[in-house]
Amino acid sequence: MSTLLESPVPTAAADLTLRRGAARVLLANWRGGSTIPSRGLYPHQWSWDSAFIAIGLRHLSVRRAQRELETLLAAQWADGRVPHIVFNPAVPLDAYFPSPDFWRSSRAGAGAGAPAAIETSGIVQPPVHALAAWLVHTADPETSRRRGFLERLRPRLAAWHDYLTGPRDLGGGGLTAMVHPWEPGMDNSPAWDGPLARVEPVAPGSYRRADLDHGQSAERPTDLDYGRYVRLAADYRDRGYRDAGHREAAPSAFAVEDPCVNALLIASEHALARITAQTGGDPAPHEERAARLTQALVRRLWSEEHGMFLNRDLVDDRLVPERSAAGLVPLIVPGLPAPVVESLLSTAKGEGFRLGELPMAASYDLRGHAFDASRYWRGPAWFNINWLLERGLRVQGARQEADGLRDAMLDVAGACGFAEYVDPYTAEARGTRDFGWTAALALDLLAARRAAATPAPRAAERDSTPTDSGVRERTSVHL
Ligand code: SER
Repeated sequence: MSTLLESPVPTAAADLTLRRGAARVLLANWRGGSTIPSRGLYPHQWSWDSAFIAIGLRHLSVRRAQRELETLLAAQWADGRVPHIVFNPAVPLDAYFPSPDFWRSSRAGAGAGAPAAIETSGIVQPPVHALAAWLVHTADPETSRRRGFLERLRPRLAAWHDYLTGPRDLGGGGLTAMVHPWEPGMDNSPAWDGPLARVEPVAPGSYRRADLDHGQSAERPTDLDYGRYVRLAADYRDRGYRDAGHREAAPSAFAVEDPCVNALLIASEHALARITAQTGGDPAPHEERAARLTQALVRRLWSEEHGMFLNRDLVDDRLVPERSAAGLVPLIVPGLPAPVVESLLSTAKGEGFRLGELPMAASYDLRGHAFDASRYWRGPAWFNINWLLERGLRVQGARQEADGLRDAMLDVAGACGFAEYVDPYTAEARGTRDFGWTAALALDLLAARRAAATPAPRAAERDSTPTDSGVRERTSVHL
Protein backbone atom coordinates (compact mmCIF):
# COMPACT_ATOMS: atom_id res chain seq x y z
CA MET A 1 0.00 0.00 0.00
CA SER A 2 2.87 2.32 0.75
CA THR A 3 3.54 2.68 -3.00
CA LEU A 4 0.07 4.08 -3.45
CA LEU A 5 0.48 6.50 -0.62
CA GLU A 6 3.88 7.60 -1.79
CA SER A 7 3.03 7.80 -5.48
CA PRO A 8 4.26 11.00 -7.14
CA VAL A 9 1.85 13.54 -8.60
CA PRO A 10 0.03 11.62 -11.35
CA THR A 11 0.95 12.38 -14.90
CA ALA A 12 -1.56 13.43 -17.52
CA ALA A 13 -0.93 10.10 -19.29
CA ALA A 14 -1.87 8.14 -16.16
CA ASP A 15 -5.01 10.22 -15.81
CA LEU A 16 -5.91 9.52 -19.41
CA THR A 17 -5.49 5.77 -18.92
CA LEU A 18 -7.66 5.89 -15.82
CA ARG A 19 -10.25 7.95 -17.62
CA ARG A 20 -10.38 5.58 -20.56
CA GLY A 21 -10.66 2.59 -18.24
CA ALA A 22 -13.54 4.17 -16.32
CA ALA A 23 -15.31 5.18 -19.54
CA ARG A 24 -14.93 1.62 -20.84
CA VAL A 25 -16.72 0.26 -17.75
CA LEU A 26 -19.61 2.71 -18.12
CA LEU A 27 -19.96 2.02 -21.83
CA ALA A 28 -19.97 -1.74 -21.28
CA ASN A 29 -22.52 -1.52 -18.45
CA TRP A 30 -24.92 0.80 -20.33
CA ARG A 31 -28.19 -0.95 -21.24
CA GLY A 32 -29.86 1.61 -23.48
CA GLY A 33 -31.70 3.59 -20.81
CA SER A 34 -29.67 3.02 -17.66
CA THR A 35 -26.47 1.45 -16.37
CA ILE A 36 -26.21 -1.87 -14.54
CA PRO A 37 -23.85 -1.84 -11.54
CA SER A 38 -22.04 -4.95 -12.81
CA ARG A 39 -22.45 -7.47 -15.58
CA GLY A 40 -22.71 -10.60 -13.41
CA LEU A 41 -23.71 -9.80 -9.86
CA TYR A 42 -26.19 -6.94 -10.40
CA PRO A 43 -27.83 -7.21 -13.84
CA HIS A 44 -30.70 -4.71 -13.34
CA GLN A 45 -30.96 -1.00 -12.46
CA TRP A 46 -30.25 -0.09 -8.82
CA SER A 47 -31.46 3.16 -7.31
CA TRP A 48 -28.50 4.70 -5.50
CA ASP A 49 -26.07 3.13 -7.95
CA SER A 50 -27.83 5.01 -10.74
CA ALA A 51 -27.54 8.30 -8.86
CA PHE A 52 -23.79 7.87 -8.31
CA ILE A 53 -23.36 6.62 -11.88
CA ALA A 54 -25.15 9.71 -13.25
CA ILE A 55 -22.72 11.91 -11.29
CA GLY A 56 -19.82 10.36 -13.22
CA LEU A 57 -21.61 9.81 -16.51
CA ARG A 58 -22.22 13.58 -16.81
CA HIS A 59 -18.54 13.89 -17.71
CA LEU A 60 -18.98 11.51 -20.65
CA SER A 61 -22.50 12.22 -21.86
CA VAL A 62 -24.89 14.63 -20.22
CA ARG A 63 -27.74 13.11 -22.22
CA ARG A 64 -27.02 9.65 -20.85
CA ALA A 65 -26.68 10.98 -17.31
CA GLN A 66 -30.08 12.64 -17.59
CA ARG A 67 -31.56 9.48 -19.06
CA GLU A 68 -30.16 7.38 -16.21
CA LEU A 69 -32.15 9.36 -13.65
CA GLU A 70 -35.23 9.68 -15.84
CA THR A 71 -35.40 5.90 -16.35
CA LEU A 72 -35.20 5.29 -12.62
CA LEU A 73 -37.81 7.89 -11.76
CA ALA A 74 -40.16 6.54 -14.45
CA ALA A 75 -40.52 3.50 -12.16
CA GLN A 76 -41.51 5.63 -9.15
CA TRP A 77 -44.58 4.46 -7.25
CA ALA A 78 -47.66 6.66 -6.83
CA ASP A 79 -46.94 6.96 -3.09
CA GLY A 80 -43.62 8.61 -3.98
CA ARG A 81 -41.21 5.77 -3.24
CA VAL A 82 -38.38 5.18 -5.68
CA PRO A 83 -37.78 1.41 -5.81
CA HIS A 84 -34.32 0.10 -5.08
CA ILE A 85 -34.32 -2.15 -8.17
CA VAL A 86 -35.97 -1.62 -11.55
CA PHE A 87 -36.00 -5.02 -13.26
CA ASN A 88 -35.01 -5.55 -16.85
CA PRO A 89 -37.58 -8.03 -18.24
CA ALA A 90 -35.01 -9.35 -20.72
CA VAL A 91 -32.81 -10.73 -17.91
CA PRO A 92 -33.59 -14.38 -16.93
CA LEU A 93 -35.30 -14.76 -13.53
CA ASP A 94 -32.52 -16.91 -12.10
CA ALA A 95 -29.81 -14.32 -12.86
CA TYR A 96 -30.53 -12.39 -9.67
CA PHE A 97 -32.27 -13.15 -6.38
CA PRO A 98 -34.76 -11.89 -5.23
CA SER A 99 -36.21 -11.75 -8.74
CA PRO A 100 -39.38 -9.95 -9.90
CA ASP A 101 -41.51 -13.04 -9.17
CA PHE A 102 -40.48 -12.71 -5.51
CA TRP A 103 -41.31 -9.00 -5.17
CA ARG A 104 -44.47 -9.18 -7.37
CA SER A 105 -44.61 -5.38 -7.23
CA SER A 106 -47.29 -4.77 -9.85
CA ARG A 107 -49.72 -6.99 -7.90
CA ALA A 108 -48.60 -6.91 -4.26
CA GLY A 109 -47.74 -3.21 -4.46
CA ALA A 110 -50.80 -2.08 -6.42
CA GLY A 111 -52.44 -0.59 -3.31
CA ALA A 112 -49.30 1.44 -2.59
CA GLY A 113 -49.18 2.69 -6.17
CA ALA A 114 -46.64 0.39 -7.82
CA PRO A 115 -46.53 0.83 -11.59
CA ALA A 116 -48.53 -1.76 -13.55
CA ALA A 117 -46.18 -2.07 -16.50
CA ILE A 118 -42.73 -2.23 -14.84
CA GLU A 119 -41.58 -4.75 -12.24
CA THR A 120 -39.55 -3.35 -9.37
CA SER A 121 -38.56 -4.23 -5.83
CA GLY A 122 -40.77 -2.73 -3.10
CA ILE A 123 -38.09 -1.25 -0.85
CA VAL A 124 -35.98 1.90 -1.31
CA GLN A 125 -32.35 3.03 -1.18
CA PRO A 126 -30.67 6.24 0.03
CA PRO A 127 -31.94 9.46 -1.61
CA VAL A 128 -28.92 10.62 -3.60
CA HIS A 129 -31.13 11.52 -6.57
CA ALA A 130 -31.84 15.24 -6.16
CA LEU A 131 -28.15 15.83 -5.49
CA ALA A 132 -27.31 13.83 -8.61
CA ALA A 133 -29.93 15.66 -10.69
CA TRP A 134 -28.50 19.01 -9.65
CA LEU A 135 -24.94 17.94 -10.45
CA VAL A 136 -26.05 16.59 -13.84
CA HIS A 137 -27.79 19.91 -14.54
CA THR A 138 -24.71 21.95 -13.67
CA ALA A 139 -22.62 19.89 -16.11
CA ASP A 140 -24.49 21.46 -19.02
CA PRO A 141 -27.23 23.88 -17.94
CA GLU A 142 -28.05 24.78 -21.53
CA THR A 143 -28.91 21.22 -22.63
CA SER A 144 -30.66 20.69 -19.32
CA ARG A 145 -32.89 23.75 -19.85
CA ARG A 146 -33.55 22.91 -23.49
CA ARG A 147 -34.71 19.42 -22.56
CA GLY A 148 -36.72 20.60 -19.55
CA PHE A 149 -34.68 18.16 -17.44
CA LEU A 150 -35.18 19.80 -14.05
CA GLU A 151 -38.84 20.70 -14.74
CA ARG A 152 -39.64 17.06 -15.44
CA LEU A 153 -37.71 15.69 -12.48
CA ARG A 154 -38.72 18.26 -9.88
CA PRO A 155 -42.23 16.93 -9.01
CA ARG A 156 -40.92 13.37 -8.86
CA LEU A 157 -38.04 14.32 -6.57
CA ALA A 158 -40.40 16.33 -4.35
CA ALA A 159 -42.81 13.35 -4.10
CA TRP A 160 -39.86 11.09 -3.23
CA HIS A 161 -38.77 13.35 -0.37
CA ASP A 162 -42.41 13.69 0.79
CA TYR A 163 -42.62 9.91 0.99
CA LEU A 164 -39.40 9.66 3.03
CA THR A 165 -40.33 12.45 5.43
CA GLY A 166 -44.04 11.47 5.65
CA PRO A 167 -45.00 7.77 5.74
CA ARG A 168 -41.39 6.81 6.45
CA ASP A 169 -40.99 8.97 9.55
CA LEU A 170 -41.71 5.82 11.54
CA GLY A 171 -40.12 7.12 14.74
CA GLY A 172 -42.13 10.35 14.65
CA GLY A 173 -38.98 12.35 15.44
CA GLY A 174 -38.51 14.07 12.10
CA LEU A 175 -36.11 11.62 10.38
CA THR A 176 -36.69 9.00 7.71
CA ALA A 177 -36.55 5.31 8.67
CA MET A 178 -35.43 2.25 6.72
CA VAL A 179 -37.30 -1.07 7.10
CA HIS A 180 -34.83 -3.51 5.52
CA PRO A 181 -31.00 -3.75 5.67
CA TRP A 182 -30.96 -3.43 1.86
CA GLU A 183 -32.53 0.02 2.18
CA PRO A 184 -29.60 1.94 3.72
CA GLY A 185 -27.50 0.04 1.15
CA MET A 186 -25.01 -1.33 3.70
CA ASP A 187 -26.61 -4.77 3.79
CA ASN A 188 -24.54 -6.61 6.39
CA SER A 189 -23.20 -3.70 8.44
CA PRO A 190 -22.47 -4.80 12.03
CA ALA A 191 -24.92 -2.06 13.02
CA TRP A 192 -27.72 -4.41 11.91
CA ASP A 193 -26.56 -7.45 13.90
CA GLY A 194 -28.59 -6.45 16.97
CA PRO A 195 -31.77 -5.32 15.17
CA LEU A 196 -31.65 -8.38 12.87
CA ALA A 197 -31.28 -10.84 15.75
CA ARG A 198 -35.01 -10.44 16.38
CA VAL A 199 -35.88 -11.58 12.86
CA GLU A 200 -36.69 -15.25 12.29
CA PRO A 201 -34.81 -16.38 9.15
CA VAL A 202 -36.75 -18.27 6.47
CA ALA A 203 -35.80 -21.92 5.89
CA PRO A 204 -32.43 -22.17 4.07
CA GLY A 205 -33.79 -24.38 1.25
CA SER A 206 -36.73 -22.12 0.41
CA TYR A 207 -34.78 -19.89 -2.03
CA ARG A 208 -31.57 -19.91 -4.03
CA ARG A 209 -28.93 -17.19 -3.74
CA ALA A 210 -27.66 -16.07 -7.14
CA ASP A 211 -24.96 -13.76 -5.76
CA LEU A 212 -22.65 -16.65 -4.93
CA ASP A 213 -22.51 -17.57 -8.64
CA HIS A 214 -20.50 -14.37 -9.12
CA GLY A 215 -18.90 -13.52 -5.78
CA GLN A 216 -16.67 -15.19 -3.19
CA SER A 217 -18.77 -16.26 -0.22
CA ALA A 218 -16.14 -14.81 2.17
CA GLU A 219 -16.81 -11.39 0.62
CA ARG A 220 -20.61 -11.58 0.75
CA PRO A 221 -23.26 -11.64 3.51
CA THR A 222 -23.80 -15.01 5.22
CA ASP A 223 -26.68 -17.45 4.62
CA LEU A 224 -28.08 -16.52 8.02
CA ASP A 225 -28.15 -12.84 6.93
CA TYR A 226 -29.93 -13.83 3.71
CA GLY A 227 -32.54 -15.88 5.58
CA ARG A 228 -33.40 -12.72 7.53
CA TYR A 229 -33.32 -10.43 4.49
CA VAL A 230 -35.78 -12.73 2.74
CA ARG A 231 -38.10 -12.90 5.77
CA LEU A 232 -38.25 -9.10 6.09
CA ALA A 233 -38.83 -8.54 2.37
CA ALA A 234 -41.54 -11.22 2.18
CA ASP A 235 -43.31 -9.81 5.26
CA TYR A 236 -43.26 -6.28 3.81
CA ARG A 237 -44.58 -7.60 0.50
CA ASP A 238 -47.31 -9.51 2.29
CA ARG A 239 -48.38 -6.28 4.02
CA GLY A 240 -48.81 -4.76 0.55
CA TYR A 241 -45.63 -2.68 1.02
CA ARG A 242 -47.64 -0.37 3.26
CA ASP A 243 -45.93 1.81 5.85
CA ALA A 244 -47.37 2.71 9.23
CA GLY A 245 -48.39 6.33 9.76
CA HIS A 246 -45.82 8.19 11.81
CA ARG A 247 -48.01 8.20 14.94
CA GLU A 248 -48.23 4.42 15.04
CA ALA A 249 -45.60 2.08 16.37
CA ALA A 250 -43.28 0.77 13.68
CA PRO A 251 -44.84 -2.47 12.47
CA SER A 252 -41.69 -3.80 10.87
CA ALA A 253 -39.48 -6.12 12.88
CA PHE A 254 -36.61 -3.99 11.53
CA ALA A 255 -36.81 -0.20 11.54
CA VAL A 256 -33.79 2.09 11.87
CA GLU A 257 -32.89 5.74 11.42
CA ASP A 258 -29.58 5.75 9.58
CA PRO A 259 -27.21 8.76 9.65
CA CYS A 260 -25.95 8.26 6.09
CA VAL A 261 -29.46 8.02 4.65
CA ASN A 262 -30.60 11.08 6.56
CA ALA A 263 -27.49 13.08 5.68
CA LEU A 264 -28.10 12.27 2.01
CA LEU A 265 -31.71 13.33 2.39
CA ILE A 266 -30.54 16.67 3.79
CA ALA A 267 -27.99 17.19 1.00
CA SER A 268 -30.66 16.27 -1.54
CA GLU A 269 -33.19 18.60 0.08
CA HIS A 270 -30.67 21.45 -0.34
CA ALA A 271 -30.26 20.37 -3.98
CA LEU A 272 -34.04 20.28 -4.39
CA ALA A 273 -34.17 23.87 -3.13
CA ARG A 274 -31.76 24.85 -5.92
CA ILE A 275 -33.72 22.83 -8.50
CA THR A 276 -36.92 24.53 -7.36
CA ALA A 277 -35.40 28.02 -7.57
CA GLN A 278 -33.93 27.20 -10.98
CA THR A 279 -37.36 26.19 -12.27
CA GLY A 280 -39.10 29.31 -10.97
CA GLY A 281 -40.44 27.94 -7.67
CA ASP A 282 -39.95 28.93 -4.04
CA PRO A 283 -36.93 27.18 -2.53
CA ALA A 284 -37.79 28.22 1.05
CA PRO A 285 -39.89 25.16 2.01
CA HIS A 286 -37.03 22.87 0.99
CA GLU A 287 -34.42 24.91 2.85
CA GLU A 288 -36.68 24.88 5.89
CA ARG A 289 -37.12 21.13 5.68
CA ALA A 290 -33.35 20.68 5.32
CA ALA A 291 -32.85 22.76 8.47
CA ARG A 292 -35.45 20.74 10.41
CA LEU A 293 -33.89 17.46 9.28
CA THR A 294 -30.45 18.72 10.33
CA GLN A 295 -31.71 19.54 13.82
CA ALA A 296 -33.39 16.13 14.08
CA LEU A 297 -30.23 14.39 12.87
CA VAL A 298 -28.17 15.94 15.66
CA ARG A 299 -30.88 15.52 18.28
CA ARG A 300 -31.65 11.87 17.52
CA LEU A 301 -28.43 10.34 16.14
CA TRP A 302 -25.41 12.24 17.49
CA SER A 303 -23.32 10.41 20.11
CA GLU A 304 -20.80 12.57 21.91
CA GLU A 305 -19.38 9.45 23.52
CA HIS A 306 -18.66 7.79 20.15
CA GLY A 307 -17.60 11.03 18.43
CA MET A 308 -19.89 10.23 15.51
CA PHE A 309 -23.48 9.68 14.46
CA LEU A 310 -25.03 6.29 15.20
CA ASN A 311 -28.07 4.41 13.98
CA ARG A 312 -31.24 4.53 16.06
CA ASP A 313 -33.06 1.21 16.40
CA LEU A 314 -36.73 2.20 16.44
CA VAL A 315 -37.92 -1.12 17.86
CA ASP A 316 -36.33 -0.39 21.25
CA ASP A 317 -35.70 3.31 20.59
CA ARG A 318 -31.97 3.10 21.37
CA LEU A 319 -28.81 4.11 19.56
CA VAL A 320 -26.89 1.12 18.17
CA PRO A 321 -23.35 1.31 19.64
CA GLU A 322 -21.54 0.26 16.42
CA ARG A 323 -19.21 2.67 14.64
CA SER A 324 -19.85 2.36 10.92
CA ALA A 325 -18.72 4.82 8.26
CA ALA A 326 -22.40 5.78 7.87
CA GLY A 327 -21.86 7.84 11.01
CA LEU A 328 -19.19 10.01 9.34
CA VAL A 329 -21.20 10.79 6.20
CA PRO A 330 -23.06 13.71 7.87
CA LEU A 331 -19.87 15.67 7.15
CA ILE A 332 -21.71 16.49 3.88
CA VAL A 333 -24.34 18.41 5.84
CA PRO A 334 -23.76 22.17 5.97
CA GLY A 335 -24.55 24.02 9.18
CA LEU A 336 -23.74 21.34 11.75
CA PRO A 337 -22.68 22.67 15.17
CA ALA A 338 -18.91 23.37 15.19
CA PRO A 339 -18.11 20.94 18.05
CA VAL A 340 -19.88 18.14 16.15
CA VAL A 341 -17.79 18.81 13.04
CA GLU A 342 -14.60 18.94 15.09
CA SER A 343 -15.41 15.67 16.75
CA LEU A 344 -16.36 13.98 13.45
CA LEU A 345 -13.09 15.06 11.83
CA SER A 346 -11.10 13.76 14.74
CA THR A 347 -12.95 10.40 14.64
CA ALA A 348 -12.32 10.11 10.89
CA LYS A 349 -8.58 10.67 11.42
CA GLY A 350 -8.42 8.56 14.59
CA GLU A 351 -7.62 4.89 15.13
CA GLY A 352 -11.03 3.64 13.93
CA PHE A 353 -10.85 4.96 10.35
CA ARG A 354 -7.32 6.40 9.91
CA LEU A 355 -8.33 8.83 7.19
CA GLY A 356 -5.21 10.34 5.62
CA GLU A 357 -3.10 7.42 6.74
CA LEU A 358 -4.81 4.49 4.99
CA PRO A 359 -5.82 5.07 1.36
CA MET A 360 -9.58 5.04 1.98
CA ALA A 361 -11.84 4.93 5.02
CA ALA A 362 -13.12 1.49 6.06
CA SER A 363 -16.86 0.89 6.19
CA TYR A 364 -16.62 -0.15 9.84
CA ASP A 365 -14.29 0.72 12.73
CA LEU A 366 -10.94 -1.01 12.15
CA ARG A 367 -10.86 -1.94 15.85
CA GLY A 368 -14.51 -3.04 15.97
CA HIS A 369 -15.33 -6.49 17.36
CA ALA A 370 -17.06 -7.47 14.07
CA PHE A 371 -14.45 -6.00 11.69
CA ASP A 372 -13.74 -8.13 8.61
CA ALA A 373 -11.48 -6.60 5.93
CA SER A 374 -13.14 -8.55 3.11
CA ARG A 375 -16.80 -9.07 3.90
CA TYR A 376 -18.93 -6.50 2.07
CA TRP A 377 -20.00 -3.76 4.55
CA ARG A 378 -18.20 -5.17 7.62
CA GLY A 379 -14.87 -3.43 6.96
CA PRO A 380 -13.99 -3.03 3.25
CA ALA A 381 -13.59 0.50 1.91
CA TRP A 382 -16.21 1.58 -0.64
CA PHE A 383 -15.89 4.28 -3.29
CA ASN A 384 -19.31 5.88 -2.85
CA ILE A 385 -18.82 6.37 0.89
CA ASN A 386 -15.33 7.75 0.38
CA TRP A 387 -16.60 10.05 -2.39
CA LEU A 388 -19.14 11.37 0.13
CA LEU A 389 -16.41 11.78 2.76
CA GLU A 390 -14.27 13.66 0.24
CA ARG A 391 -17.22 15.95 -0.47
CA GLY A 392 -17.90 16.27 3.25
CA LEU A 393 -14.31 17.30 3.96
CA ARG A 394 -14.70 20.08 1.37
CA VAL A 395 -18.05 21.18 2.82
CA GLN A 396 -16.28 21.51 6.19
CA GLY A 397 -13.31 23.39 4.72
CA ALA A 398 -10.77 20.57 5.18
CA ARG A 399 -9.34 21.04 1.71
CA GLN A 400 -5.98 19.42 2.18
CA GLU A 401 -7.52 16.26 3.64
CA ALA A 402 -10.05 16.19 0.80
CA ASP A 403 -7.31 16.50 -1.83
CA GLY A 404 -5.39 13.66 -0.19
CA LEU A 405 -8.43 11.37 -0.12
CA ARG A 406 -9.31 12.22 -3.73
CA ASP A 407 -5.81 11.38 -4.97
CA ALA A 408 -5.66 8.15 -2.98
CA MET A 409 -9.06 7.06 -4.31
CA LEU A 410 -7.95 7.69 -7.88
CA ASP A 411 -4.82 5.59 -7.34
CA VAL A 412 -6.86 2.77 -5.85
CA ALA A 413 -9.66 2.86 -8.45
CA GLY A 414 -7.29 2.21 -11.33
CA ALA A 415 -5.10 -0.29 -9.50
CA CYS A 416 -8.02 -2.45 -8.35
CA GLY A 417 -9.80 -2.71 -11.72
CA PHE A 418 -12.71 -0.53 -10.57
CA ALA A 419 -13.55 -3.04 -7.86
CA GLU A 420 -16.80 -2.92 -5.92
CA TYR A 421 -14.85 -2.50 -2.66
CA VAL A 422 -11.29 -2.95 -1.39
CA ASP A 423 -9.46 -4.21 1.67
CA PRO A 424 -8.97 -1.00 3.68
CA TYR A 425 -5.40 -1.90 4.65
CA THR A 426 -3.99 -3.23 1.37
CA ALA A 427 -6.44 -1.66 -1.15
CA GLU A 428 -6.68 -5.07 -2.84
CA ALA A 429 -9.81 -5.63 -4.91
CA ARG A 430 -12.80 -7.31 -3.26
CA GLY A 431 -16.26 -8.08 -4.60
CA THR A 432 -17.01 -7.75 -8.28
CA ARG A 433 -14.84 -5.82 -10.80
CA ASP A 434 -15.74 -3.17 -13.41
CA PHE A 435 -18.24 -1.82 -10.93
CA GLY A 436 -20.38 1.08 -12.16
CA TRP A 437 -20.16 3.63 -9.36
CA THR A 438 -16.43 3.01 -8.79
CA ALA A 439 -15.77 3.93 -12.43
CA ALA A 440 -18.25 6.83 -12.39
CA LEU A 441 -16.94 8.39 -9.20
CA ALA A 442 -13.35 8.03 -10.40
CA LEU A 443 -14.36 10.04 -13.49
CA ASP A 444 -15.92 12.66 -11.27
CA LEU A 445 -12.84 12.97 -9.06
CA LEU A 446 -10.57 13.13 -12.09
CA ALA A 447 -12.66 15.96 -13.51
CA ALA A 448 -12.56 17.79 -10.18
CA ARG A 449 -8.79 17.42 -9.92
CA ARG A 450 -8.31 18.70 -13.44
CA ALA A 451 -10.59 21.66 -12.81
CA ALA A 452 -8.72 22.49 -9.59
CA ALA A 453 -5.43 22.48 -11.49
CA THR A 454 -6.65 24.82 -14.24
CA PRO A 455 -7.24 28.57 -13.86
CA ALA A 456 -10.63 29.56 -12.41
CA PRO A 457 -13.39 30.11 -14.97
CA ARG A 458 -14.95 33.52 -15.47
CA ALA A 459 -17.29 34.46 -12.63
CA ALA A 460 -20.44 34.01 -14.73
CA GLU A 461 -19.47 30.45 -15.55
CA ARG A 462 -18.40 29.51 -12.07
CA ASP A 463 -20.36 26.75 -10.48
CA SER A 464 -22.55 27.93 -7.64
CA THR A 465 -21.62 25.04 -5.39
CA PRO A 466 -18.08 25.17 -4.04
CA THR A 467 -17.83 21.36 -4.05
CA ASP A 468 -19.02 20.95 -7.63
CA SER A 469 -15.68 21.83 -9.20
CA GLY A 470 -14.94 20.24 -12.49
CA VAL A 471 -18.50 19.77 -13.67
CA ARG A 472 -18.02 21.69 -16.88
CA GLU A 473 -15.21 19.52 -18.09
CA ARG A 474 -15.72 18.57 -21.72
CA THR A 475 -14.86 15.13 -22.81
CA SER A 476 -13.15 13.59 -25.77
CA VAL A 477 -15.40 10.53 -25.48
CA HIS A 478 -18.39 11.05 -27.75
CA LEU A 479 -21.49 8.97 -27.20
N1 SER B 1 -27.09 -5.20 -2.15
C1 SER B 1 -28.09 -6.21 -2.40
C2 SER B 1 -27.49 -7.38 -3.10
O1 SER B 1 -26.38 -7.70 -2.79
C3 SER B 1 -29.33 -5.75 -3.01
O2 SER B 1 -29.57 -4.39 -3.00
O3 SER B 1 -28.08 -8.00 -3.95
